[in-house]
Amino acid sequence: MLEVDGLTKSFGSLDVLKGVNMQVEKGEMVALMGPSGSGKSTLLNIIGGLLAGDGGSITLDERTYGQKGPSSVVDVRRNKVGWIFQDFHLLDNLSALDNVAIALELSGMPSDEAVAAAEVALTKVGLGERLNFIPDQLSGGQQQRVAIARAIAGNRPVLLADEPTGNLDIASGKEVLKLFKDLCHDVENPISILMVTHDPDLASNADRMLLLNDGKTEASDIRSAWGLDEEGEEE
Ligand SMILES: Nc1ncnc2c1ncn2[C@@H]1O[C@H](COP(=O)(O)OP(=O)(O)OP(=O)(O)O)[C@@H](O)[C@H]1O
Ligand SMILES: [Mg+2]
Repeated sequence: MLEVDGLTKSFGSLDVLKGVNMQVEKGEMVALMGPSGSGKSTLLNIIGGLLAGDGGSITLDERTYGQKGPSSVVDVRRNKVGWIFQDFHLLDNLSALDNVAIALELSGMPSDEAVAAAEVALTKVGLGERLNFIPDQLSGGQQQRVAIARAIAGNRPVLLADEPTGNLDIASGKEVLKLFKDLCHDVENPISILMVTHDPDLASNADRMLLLNDGKTEASDIRSAWGLDEEGEEE
């Protein structure tokens, strides 16, 4: 589904990514960890078509890019990847339904279709009873679920999540993770999720963990490092 091949990126003399190789399969949820400043957000931004890399390539759903500027990968941003951020980026005065629908309308969907698709997405994340609530009337976890509905509503095959639970309490964070897993493991329409997190406990719930260290990704077995149970299935 998503393959990153020898990706490099420098800012001036700072070599942040030094040949990143990784992939995320369809239906897989991968946690990306690494020290602050190791380049996790930079990697997500290049995959998401917000930033050009210097070398290497990205293949997403038969589309290859990685060194093209943001204006050349509009289709990637519009159709291929959905974003989830730490702060939910919702519009304060709009209902949950309109927050999701407006994103679809902006990408060119007719209004009535957008509202219908928004309702389906919100129902999928468990907010079918709260369509007309504005963000202030929702808990942090519920607000993040509105953001997740917005990200999945356009049928995008990959979700990029940069510290999606950073602003949530532990219980809400776990719920978001559970929802991510359900979305990835959906039998009818599985998606792929690449999630940055600083929380090893949450990361250990992903299908697989990667560590970004010294400009490269390596498989990580944080379970053993943190003394957690080895219960995930190995490839
Ligand atoms: N636009 C930019 N211009 C110059 N340097 C940048 C730019 N963006 C990121 N950097 C630098 O690249 C390095 C990696 O940054 P990045 O934000 O990707 O790290 P991160 O792993 O996401 O860190 P954190 O865990 O703190 O979010 C940092 O040293 C940062 O200062
Ligand atoms: Mg970051």
